[in-house]
Amino acid sequence: MSEQLVCAVGDIPVGEKKFFLIDKESIIVYHLEEGFFATQRYCSHTFAPLDGGKLVEGCQIRCPFHRARFDVRDGAVVQWANFPPGIQMLNAVRGEQPLKTYPVRVEDGQVLVEI
Ligand code: FES
Repeated sequence: MSEQLVCAVGDIPVGEKKFFLIDKESIIVYHLEEGFFATQRYCSHTFAPLDGGKLVEGCQIRCPFHRARFDVRDGAVVQWANFPPGIQMLNAVRGEQPLKTYPVRVEDGQVLVEI
């Protein structure tokens, strides 16, 4: 693991997110009211890119494919895939799995992520 400079604080407004490829790891950095957080880019359900999803409830990313929701602060599943109707059949083999998260630190206006 090594700490990598990802962007400047001002590059991601509060309430926004951004995708980065760092050391072959695809991650998303989120800027919440309470600070910066980072998760894996791809959904743990069937691998949709979560940077195409929507930040909801202030701290959750909602997947654009089947609407699973994850707390980006710890990667926990808030709600598993539930769209379209019938997706539960797929869920039988793609059970709930949290997102990987990465430690984030801000120093001198720069966002650093441990990869
Ligand atoms: S790929 Fe994300 S919920 Fe299915």
